[in-house]
Amino acid sequence: MNYKNNILELIGDTPLVKLNKLTRGLKPLVLAKIESLNPGGSVKDRIGQAMIDRAERMGDLKPGGTIVEATSGNTGIGLALTCSVRGYRSIFVMTDKASQEKVRYLKSLGADVIVVSSAAKLDSPDHYVNTAKRIAAETPNAILTNQYANPANPEAHYRSTGPEIWEATEGKITHFVAGMGTGGTISGTGRYLKEKNPNIRIIGADPYGSAIKGFKETGKLMAASPYLVEGIGQEIIPDNVQLKYIDEIINVTDRDSFNLARRLGREEGIFCGGSSGTIAWAALKAAENLTENDVVVFIICDTGERYLSKFLSDEWMKEKQLLGDERMTLGLLNDLKLNAGRVRLVFVEPDTKVGEVLNLMSNHGLSQLPVLEDGKSVGSVRESRIMSQLLDNRDLLEAPVTSIMDASFPVVGETVEVLRAKQYLKDSPAVLVEEYGRIVGIITRHDVLDIEI
Ligand SMILES: Cc1ncc(COP(=O)(O)O)c(C=O)c1O
Repeated sequence: MNYKNNILELIGDTPLVKLNKLTRGLKPLVLAKIESLNPGGSVKDRIGQAMIDRAERMGDLKPGGTIVEATSGNTGIGLALTCSVRGYRSIFVMTDKASQEKVRYLKSLGADVIVVSSAAKLDSPDHYVNTAKRIAAETPNAILTNQYANPANPEAHYRSTGPEIWEATEGKITHFVAGMGTGGTISGTGRYLKEKNPNIRIIGADPYGSAIKGFKETGKLMAASPYLVEGIGQEIIPDNVQLKYIDEIINVTDRDSFNLARRLGREEGIFCGGSSGTIAWAALKAAENLTENDVVVFIICDTGERYLSKFLSDEWMKEKQLLGDERMTLGLLNDLKLNAGRVRLVFVEPDTKVGEVLNLMSNHGLSQLPVLEDGKSVGSVRESRIMSQLLDNRDLLEAPVTSIMDASFPVVGETVEVLRAKQYLKDSPAVLVEEYGRIVGIITRHDVLDIEI
Protein backbone atom coordinates (compact mmCIF):
# COMPACT_ATOMS: atom_id res chain seq x y z
CA MET A 1 0.00 0.00 0.00
CA ASN A 2 1.15 3.50 -0.78
CA TYR A 3 0.45 6.02 1.94
CA LYS A 4 2.07 8.53 4.26
CA ASN A 5 2.14 7.84 7.98
CA ASN A 6 0.98 11.35 8.75
CA ILE A 7 0.63 14.72 7.05
CA LEU A 8 4.15 15.78 8.07
CA GLU A 9 5.64 13.31 5.60
CA LEU A 10 4.29 15.53 2.82
CA ILE A 11 6.57 18.41 3.83
CA GLY A 12 9.33 19.30 1.37
CA ASP A 13 10.36 17.82 -2.00
CA THR A 14 8.55 20.66 -3.69
CA PRO A 15 8.89 20.97 -7.48
CA LEU A 16 10.65 23.59 -9.61
CA VAL A 17 8.41 25.11 -12.29
CA LYS A 18 9.72 27.09 -15.26
CA LEU A 19 8.32 30.56 -15.90
CA ASN A 20 7.31 30.91 -19.54
CA LYS A 21 5.49 34.18 -20.09
CA LEU A 22 6.86 36.56 -17.48
CA THR A 23 10.35 35.78 -18.75
CA ARG A 24 9.71 36.94 -22.34
CA GLY A 25 12.82 38.66 -23.63
CA LEU A 26 15.02 37.28 -20.85
CA LYS A 27 17.78 34.78 -21.56
CA PRO A 28 18.17 32.58 -18.46
CA LEU A 29 16.01 29.70 -17.30
CA VAL A 30 13.93 31.03 -14.40
CA LEU A 31 12.47 28.40 -12.06
CA ALA A 32 9.97 28.88 -9.23
CA LYS A 33 10.26 26.54 -6.25
CA ILE A 34 6.66 25.96 -5.32
CA GLU A 35 6.74 25.96 -1.52
CA SER A 36 2.99 26.62 -1.54
CA LEU A 37 2.63 22.88 -2.25
CA ASN A 38 3.68 22.01 1.30
CA PRO A 39 0.70 20.65 3.29
CA GLY A 40 0.28 23.91 5.24
CA GLY A 41 0.59 25.90 2.01
CA SER A 42 3.92 27.59 2.75
CA VAL A 43 7.69 27.28 3.05
CA LYS A 44 7.28 27.49 6.83
CA ASP A 45 6.05 23.91 7.22
CA ARG A 46 9.70 22.89 7.00
CA ILE A 47 10.78 24.95 9.99
CA GLY A 48 7.63 24.25 12.02
CA GLN A 49 8.54 20.59 12.09
CA ALA A 50 12.30 21.21 12.44
CA MET A 51 11.98 23.56 15.43
CA ILE A 52 9.73 21.07 17.26
CA ASP A 53 12.09 18.18 16.42
CA ARG A 54 14.94 20.18 17.94
CA ALA A 55 13.00 21.12 21.08
CA GLU A 56 12.12 17.43 21.60
CA ARG A 57 15.76 16.38 21.03
CA MET A 58 17.07 18.97 23.46
CA GLY A 59 14.51 17.89 26.06
CA ASP A 60 12.93 21.39 26.13
CA LEU A 61 9.55 20.18 24.96
CA LYS A 62 7.78 17.54 27.10
CA PRO A 63 4.65 15.57 26.21
CA GLY A 64 1.58 17.78 26.57
CA GLY A 65 3.76 20.90 26.28
CA THR A 66 2.85 24.20 24.60
CA ILE A 67 4.47 25.97 21.67
CA VAL A 68 4.37 29.79 21.62
CA GLU A 69 5.48 31.82 18.60
CA ALA A 70 5.28 35.32 17.15
CA THR A 71 4.32 34.79 13.54
CA SER A 72 3.02 36.54 10.46
CA GLY A 73 0.93 33.39 10.05
CA ASN A 74 2.77 30.83 8.01
CA THR A 75 5.18 29.70 10.72
CA GLY A 76 2.20 29.35 12.99
CA ILE A 77 0.52 27.09 10.44
CA GLY A 78 3.70 25.01 10.06
CA LEU A 79 4.04 24.66 13.84
CA ALA A 80 0.34 23.97 14.32
CA LEU A 81 0.49 21.09 11.81
CA THR A 82 3.24 19.40 13.80
CA CYS A 83 1.47 20.21 17.08
CA SER A 84 -1.75 18.55 15.93
CA VAL A 85 0.08 15.42 14.77
CA ARG A 86 2.14 15.20 17.96
CA GLY A 87 -0.42 16.38 20.52
CA TYR A 88 1.05 19.72 21.63
CA ARG A 89 -0.90 22.88 22.42
CA SER A 90 -0.02 26.02 20.44
CA ILE A 91 -0.46 29.76 21.07
CA PHE A 92 0.37 32.27 18.32
CA VAL A 93 0.79 36.02 18.55
CA MET A 94 0.12 37.91 15.33
CA THR A 95 -0.21 41.57 14.40
CA ASP A 96 -3.38 43.06 12.98
CA LYS A 97 -1.57 43.22 9.60
CA ALA A 98 -2.10 39.47 9.15
CA SER A 99 -5.13 38.47 7.12
CA GLN A 100 -8.27 37.03 8.71
CA GLU A 101 -7.78 33.94 6.59
CA LYS A 102 -4.53 33.17 8.42
CA VAL A 103 -6.07 33.71 11.86
CA ARG A 104 -8.97 31.39 11.04
CA TYR A 105 -6.64 28.83 9.50
CA LEU A 106 -4.60 28.64 12.71
CA LYS A 107 -7.70 28.30 14.82
CA SER A 108 -8.91 25.50 12.53
CA LEU A 109 -5.71 23.62 13.28
CA GLY A 110 -6.52 23.86 16.99
CA ALA A 111 -4.26 26.80 17.85
CA ASP A 112 -5.02 29.76 20.12
CA VAL A 113 -4.38 33.10 18.40
CA ILE A 114 -3.69 36.48 20.00
CA VAL A 115 -3.76 39.53 17.71
CA VAL A 116 -1.87 42.66 18.80
CA SER A 117 -1.46 46.06 17.15
CA SER A 118 1.16 46.30 14.41
CA ALA A 119 1.76 49.88 15.56
CA ALA A 120 3.48 48.71 18.81
CA LYS A 121 7.18 49.62 18.74
CA LEU A 122 9.93 47.06 19.08
CA ASP A 123 10.72 48.15 22.66
CA SER A 124 7.08 48.12 23.74
CA PRO A 125 5.76 45.21 25.85
CA ASP A 126 2.84 45.12 23.39
CA HIS A 127 5.07 44.39 20.37
CA TYR A 128 4.09 40.97 19.00
CA VAL A 129 7.50 39.39 19.67
CA ASN A 130 7.56 40.72 23.27
CA THR A 131 3.99 39.54 23.82
CA ALA A 132 4.96 36.02 22.68
CA LYS A 133 7.97 36.04 25.06
CA ARG A 134 5.79 37.04 28.00
CA ILE A 135 3.16 34.38 27.25
CA ALA A 136 5.84 31.67 26.94
CA ALA A 137 7.31 32.72 30.29
CA GLU A 138 3.93 32.76 32.03
CA THR A 139 2.60 29.45 30.60
CA PRO A 140 3.70 26.24 32.39
CA ASN A 141 5.58 23.71 30.25
CA ALA A 142 5.73 26.16 27.32
CA ILE A 143 8.56 27.03 24.95
CA LEU A 144 9.03 29.97 22.61
CA THR A 145 10.26 28.52 19.33
CA ASN A 146 11.61 31.93 18.26
CA GLN A 147 12.05 31.41 14.53
CA TYR A 148 14.21 34.56 14.35
CA ALA A 149 17.10 33.02 16.26
CA ASN A 150 16.33 29.28 16.40
CA PRO A 151 19.21 27.46 14.61
CA ALA A 152 16.76 24.73 13.53
CA ASN A 153 15.25 27.28 11.11
CA PRO A 154 18.21 27.81 8.73
CA GLU A 155 19.28 24.23 9.47
CA ALA A 156 15.99 22.91 8.01
CA HIS A 157 16.73 24.73 4.76
CA TYR A 158 20.37 23.63 4.80
CA ARG A 159 19.19 20.02 5.10
CA SER A 160 16.21 20.10 2.75
CA THR A 161 15.58 23.18 0.55
CA GLY A 162 19.23 23.55 -0.50
CA PRO A 163 19.82 19.88 -1.46
CA GLU A 164 16.45 19.70 -3.25
CA ILE A 165 17.37 22.67 -5.46
CA TRP A 166 20.89 21.41 -6.08
CA GLU A 167 19.64 17.98 -7.13
CA ALA A 168 16.67 19.19 -9.18
CA THR A 169 18.91 21.55 -11.20
CA GLU A 170 21.68 18.91 -11.42
CA GLY A 171 24.01 21.48 -9.89
CA LYS A 172 23.33 23.96 -12.72
CA ILE A 173 21.74 26.66 -10.54
CA THR A 174 23.63 29.96 -10.82
CA HIS A 175 21.37 32.35 -8.85
CA PHE A 176 19.10 31.79 -5.86
CA VAL A 177 16.55 34.44 -4.91
CA ALA A 178 14.56 34.47 -1.65
CA GLY A 179 12.88 36.93 0.68
CA MET A 180 14.08 37.58 4.21
CA GLY A 181 11.65 37.43 7.10
CA THR A 182 13.53 35.46 9.71
CA GLY A 183 16.27 34.84 7.14
CA GLY A 184 16.04 31.08 7.60
CA THR A 185 15.32 30.26 3.96
CA ILE A 186 18.04 32.42 2.46
CA SER A 187 20.71 31.66 5.08
CA GLY A 188 20.22 27.87 5.18
CA THR A 189 19.69 27.38 1.45
CA GLY A 190 22.40 29.93 0.63
CA ARG A 191 24.93 28.22 2.88
CA TYR A 192 24.26 24.82 1.32
CA LEU A 193 24.44 26.11 -2.24
CA LYS A 194 27.63 28.10 -1.59
CA GLU A 195 29.28 25.03 -0.07
CA LYS A 196 28.44 23.15 -3.27
CA ASN A 197 29.52 25.98 -5.56
CA PRO A 198 30.77 29.29 -4.13
CA ASN A 199 29.99 31.05 -7.43
CA ILE A 200 26.25 30.68 -6.97
CA ARG A 201 24.89 34.17 -6.30
CA ILE A 202 22.47 34.48 -3.41
CA ILE A 203 20.06 37.39 -3.85
CA GLY A 204 17.68 38.72 -1.21
CA ALA A 205 14.42 40.47 -2.07
CA ASP A 206 13.52 43.17 0.44
CA PRO A 207 10.46 45.44 0.52
CA TYR A 208 11.15 49.20 0.35
CA GLY A 209 10.76 50.28 3.98
CA SER A 210 12.61 47.27 5.43
CA ALA A 211 16.01 47.94 7.04
CA ILE A 212 17.85 44.83 5.78
CA LYS A 213 19.22 46.14 2.45
CA GLY A 214 20.49 49.35 4.07
CA PHE A 215 22.18 47.40 6.85
CA LYS A 216 23.87 45.01 4.41
CA GLU A 217 25.22 47.89 2.33
CA THR A 218 26.19 50.43 5.00
CA GLY A 219 26.36 48.51 8.29
CA LYS A 220 23.86 51.02 9.67
CA LEU A 221 20.36 50.27 10.85
CA MET A 222 18.09 52.85 9.32
CA ALA A 223 14.57 53.53 10.56
CA ALA A 224 12.09 51.21 8.87
CA SER A 225 8.92 52.58 7.30
CA PRO A 226 5.60 50.78 6.74
CA TYR A 227 4.87 48.56 3.76
CA LEU A 228 2.08 46.13 3.03
CA VAL A 229 3.74 42.90 1.87
CA GLU A 230 3.47 40.28 4.63
CA GLY A 231 6.13 37.94 5.99
CA ILE A 232 9.32 39.59 4.73
CA GLY A 233 11.45 42.63 5.61
CA GLN A 234 12.56 43.66 9.10
CA GLU A 235 13.24 46.71 11.23
CA ILE A 236 16.16 44.92 12.94
CA ILE A 237 18.45 42.19 11.66
CA PRO A 238 17.41 38.80 13.13
CA ASP A 239 20.15 36.31 14.05
CA ASN A 240 18.94 34.01 11.28
CA VAL A 241 19.61 36.62 8.58
CA GLN A 242 23.23 35.60 8.01
CA LEU A 243 24.43 38.33 5.71
CA LYS A 244 27.67 36.52 4.83
CA TYR A 245 25.67 34.12 2.63
CA ILE A 246 23.86 36.95 0.83
CA ASP A 247 25.65 38.62 -2.12
CA GLU A 248 23.11 41.26 -3.04
CA ILE A 249 19.77 42.65 -1.89
CA ILE A 250 17.17 44.12 -4.26
CA ASN A 251 14.45 46.49 -3.00
CA VAL A 252 10.92 46.05 -4.34
CA THR A 253 7.82 48.25 -3.92
CA ASP A 254 4.43 47.02 -2.67
CA ARG A 255 2.93 47.92 -6.05
CA ASP A 256 5.46 45.83 -8.00
CA SER A 257 5.21 42.95 -5.51
CA PHE A 258 1.43 42.70 -5.56
CA ASN A 259 0.99 43.26 -9.27
CA LEU A 260 3.61 40.64 -10.12
CA ALA A 261 2.13 38.15 -7.63
CA ARG A 262 -1.19 38.64 -9.42
CA ARG A 263 0.44 38.16 -12.81
CA LEU A 264 2.06 34.93 -11.59
CA GLY A 265 -1.47 33.63 -11.10
CA ARG A 266 -2.95 35.03 -14.30
CA GLU A 267 -0.09 34.29 -16.67
CA GLU A 268 1.71 31.30 -15.18
CA GLY A 269 -1.07 29.67 -13.10
CA ILE A 270 1.09 30.06 -10.00
CA PHE A 271 -1.31 31.19 -7.28
CA CYS A 272 0.79 32.83 -4.57
CA GLY A 273 1.13 35.41 -1.81
CA GLY A 274 2.53 38.93 -2.05
CA SER A 275 6.05 38.09 -0.82
CA SER A 276 6.38 35.66 -3.74
CA GLY A 277 5.69 38.65 -6.00
CA THR A 278 8.49 40.58 -4.26
CA ILE A 279 10.89 37.68 -4.78
CA ALA A 280 9.80 37.02 -8.38
CA TRP A 281 10.30 40.72 -9.18
CA ALA A 282 13.87 40.59 -7.82
CA ALA A 283 14.49 37.32 -9.72
CA LEU A 284 13.31 38.85 -13.02
CA LYS A 285 15.35 42.00 -12.33
CA ALA A 286 18.46 39.90 -11.76
CA ALA A 287 17.71 37.83 -14.86
CA GLU A 288 17.79 40.94 -17.09
CA ASN A 289 21.58 40.93 -17.09
CA LEU A 290 22.12 37.17 -17.34
CA THR A 291 22.80 34.73 -20.17
CA GLU A 292 21.32 31.51 -21.60
CA ASN A 293 23.69 29.55 -19.37
CA ASP A 294 22.24 30.94 -16.17
CA VAL A 295 19.64 29.18 -14.05
CA VAL A 296 17.74 31.34 -11.58
CA VAL A 297 15.72 29.66 -8.83
CA PHE A 298 13.35 31.69 -6.66
CA ILE A 299 10.95 30.82 -3.87
CA ILE A 300 7.16 30.87 -4.06
CA CYS A 301 6.62 31.23 -0.31
CA ASP A 302 2.93 30.54 0.08
CA THR A 303 -0.45 30.14 -1.57
CA GLY A 304 -2.63 33.08 -2.58
CA GLU A 305 -5.60 31.64 -0.75
CA ARG A 306 -4.73 33.47 2.44
CA TYR A 307 -4.75 36.86 0.67
CA LEU A 308 -8.09 36.70 -1.16
CA SER A 309 -9.50 39.52 0.95
CA LYS A 310 -6.27 41.53 0.64
CA PHE A 311 -4.06 42.12 -2.39
CA LEU A 312 -5.96 39.58 -4.49
CA SER A 313 -9.08 41.74 -4.15
CA ASP A 314 -9.36 44.54 -6.73
CA GLU A 315 -11.25 46.67 -4.21
CA TRP A 316 -8.45 46.35 -1.61
CA MET A 317 -5.81 47.17 -4.21
CA LYS A 318 -7.79 50.20 -5.35
CA GLU A 319 -8.23 51.40 -1.76
CA LYS A 320 -4.47 51.21 -1.26
CA GLN A 321 -3.91 52.89 -4.65
CA LEU A 322 -1.87 49.93 -5.86
CA LEU A 323 -3.97 48.56 -8.69
CA GLY A 324 -2.15 48.24 -11.99
CA ASP A 325 -3.77 50.37 -14.71
CA GLU A 326 -4.75 47.31 -16.73
CA ARG A 327 -6.94 46.03 -13.88
CA MET A 328 -9.07 49.16 -13.42
CA THR A 329 -12.12 48.25 -15.44
CA LEU A 330 -15.34 50.14 -15.98
CA GLY A 331 -17.20 47.44 -14.01
CA LEU A 332 -14.87 47.91 -11.03
CA LEU A 333 -15.17 51.69 -11.19
CA ASN A 334 -18.94 51.35 -11.31
CA ASP A 335 -18.87 49.04 -8.24
CA LEU A 336 -16.65 51.50 -6.41
CA LYS A 337 -19.18 54.27 -7.12
CA LEU A 338 -21.91 52.02 -5.76
CA ASN A 339 -19.89 51.18 -2.63
CA ALA A 340 -19.28 54.86 -2.06
CA GLY A 341 -23.07 55.17 -1.70
CA ARG A 342 -23.62 57.04 -4.94
CA VAL A 343 -26.71 56.30 -7.03
CA ARG A 344 -25.72 53.69 -9.55
CA LEU A 345 -27.62 54.68 -12.65
CA VAL A 346 -30.16 57.46 -13.10
CA PHE A 347 -31.98 57.17 -16.42
CA VAL A 348 -35.22 58.09 -18.17
CA GLU A 349 -37.49 56.12 -20.49
CA PRO A 350 -38.54 57.25 -24.00
CA ASP A 351 -41.99 58.40 -22.84
CA THR A 352 -40.72 60.41 -19.84
CA LYS A 353 -41.82 64.05 -20.19
CA VAL A 354 -39.11 66.70 -20.67
CA GLY A 355 -40.31 68.53 -17.49
CA GLU A 356 -39.74 65.37 -15.43
CA VAL A 357 -36.34 64.92 -17.01
CA LEU A 358 -35.35 68.41 -15.85
CA ASN A 359 -36.58 67.67 -12.29
CA LEU A 360 -34.60 64.47 -12.20
CA MET A 361 -31.47 66.25 -13.42
CA SER A 362 -31.77 68.97 -10.81
CA ASN A 363 -32.52 66.48 -7.96
CA HIS A 364 -29.42 64.45 -8.76
CA GLY A 365 -27.22 67.35 -9.85
CA LEU A 366 -26.74 65.82 -13.30
CA SER A 367 -26.40 67.59 -16.63
CA GLN A 368 -27.01 64.59 -18.89
CA LEU A 369 -29.00 61.36 -18.69
CA PRO A 370 -29.25 58.19 -20.73
CA VAL A 371 -32.57 57.16 -22.23
CA LEU A 372 -33.11 53.43 -21.70
CA GLU A 373 -35.80 51.05 -22.93
CA ASP A 374 -35.86 47.50 -21.50
CA GLY A 375 -32.31 47.86 -20.23
CA LYS A 376 -30.98 48.97 -23.65
CA SER A 377 -29.73 52.41 -24.52
CA VAL A 378 -31.85 54.27 -27.12
CA GLY A 379 -30.55 57.81 -26.72
CA SER A 380 -29.35 60.54 -24.36
CA VAL A 381 -30.52 63.96 -23.16
CA ARG A 382 -28.46 67.00 -22.22
CA GLU A 383 -29.59 69.82 -19.98
CA SER A 384 -27.99 72.50 -22.18
CA ARG A 385 -29.97 71.38 -25.25
CA ILE A 386 -33.27 71.23 -23.34
CA MET A 387 -32.68 74.71 -21.93
CA SER A 388 -31.83 76.31 -25.26
CA GLN A 389 -34.94 74.78 -26.92
CA LEU A 390 -37.18 75.78 -24.01
CA LEU A 391 -36.31 79.42 -24.70
CA ASP A 392 -38.27 79.13 -27.99
CA ASN A 393 -40.92 76.64 -26.92
CA ARG A 394 -42.14 76.22 -23.31
CA ASP A 395 -44.66 73.53 -24.40
CA LEU A 396 -41.68 71.26 -24.73
CA LEU A 397 -41.98 70.57 -20.96
CA GLU A 398 -44.98 68.28 -21.69
CA ALA A 399 -43.42 66.52 -24.69
CA PRO A 400 -41.80 63.06 -24.42
CA VAL A 401 -38.04 63.08 -24.14
CA THR A 402 -37.73 61.41 -27.55
CA SER A 403 -38.64 64.74 -29.14
CA ILE A 404 -35.39 66.27 -27.98
CA MET A 405 -33.16 63.23 -27.59
CA ASP A 406 -29.57 62.95 -28.89
CA ALA A 407 -27.70 59.82 -29.90
CA SER A 408 -26.90 57.28 -27.21
CA PHE A 409 -23.71 57.58 -25.15
CA PRO A 410 -21.18 54.96 -26.24
CA VAL A 411 -21.96 51.55 -24.71
CA VAL A 412 -18.87 49.77 -23.39
CA GLY A 413 -18.46 46.32 -21.79
CA GLU A 414 -17.80 46.21 -18.03
CA THR A 415 -14.53 44.35 -18.55
CA VAL A 416 -13.06 47.18 -20.65
CA GLU A 417 -10.24 49.06 -18.93
CA VAL A 418 -10.83 52.65 -17.89
CA LEU A 419 -7.70 53.61 -19.80
CA ARG A 420 -9.33 52.45 -23.05
CA ALA A 421 -12.70 54.00 -22.21
CA LYS A 422 -10.97 57.39 -21.84
CA GLN A 423 -10.85 57.57 -25.64
CA TYR A 424 -14.68 57.66 -25.79
CA LEU A 425 -14.81 60.31 -23.08
CA LYS A 426 -12.88 62.72 -25.27
CA ASP A 427 -15.95 63.04 -27.53
CA SER A 428 -18.80 62.05 -25.23
CA PRO A 429 -19.50 63.34 -21.67
CA ALA A 430 -20.24 59.80 -20.46
CA VAL A 431 -20.11 56.10 -21.39
CA LEU A 432 -22.64 53.46 -20.44
CA VAL A 433 -21.41 50.25 -18.82
CA GLU A 434 -22.93 47.07 -20.20
CA GLU A 435 -23.00 43.71 -18.41
CA TYR A 436 -24.48 40.65 -20.12
CA GLY A 437 -26.45 42.79 -22.59
CA ARG A 438 -27.94 45.22 -20.03
CA ILE A 439 -26.84 48.71 -19.09
CA VAL A 440 -25.76 48.63 -15.44
CA GLY A 441 -23.99 51.94 -14.94
CA ILE A 442 -22.76 55.21 -16.31
CA ILE A 443 -19.21 56.55 -16.07
CA THR A 444 -18.70 60.27 -16.61
CA ARG A 445 -15.56 62.31 -17.23
CA HIS A 446 -15.79 63.37 -13.58
CA ASP A 447 -15.76 59.74 -12.37
CA VAL A 448 -12.59 59.04 -14.31
CA LEU A 449 -10.91 62.25 -13.18
CA ASP A 450 -11.88 61.46 -9.58
CA ILE A 451 -9.94 58.22 -9.47
CA GLU A 452 -6.19 58.06 -9.39
CA ILE A 453 -5.17 55.14 -11.49
C1 LIG B 1 4.75 34.78 3.44
C2 LIG B 1 6.18 34.69 3.81
N1 LIG B 1 7.08 34.86 2.88
C3 LIG B 1 8.40 34.81 3.16
C4 LIG B 1 8.88 34.60 4.41
C5 LIG B 1 10.37 34.66 4.64
O1 LIG B 1 11.02 33.49 4.93
P1 LIG B 1 12.16 33.43 6.03
O2 LIG B 1 11.52 33.69 7.36
O3 LIG B 1 12.72 32.06 5.94
O4 LIG B 1 13.18 34.49 5.76
C6 LIG B 1 7.96 34.45 5.39
C7 LIG B 1 8.40 34.33 6.77
O5 LIG B 1 7.95 34.89 7.72
C8 LIG B 1 6.56 34.48 5.11
O6 LIG B 1 5.64 34.34 6.06
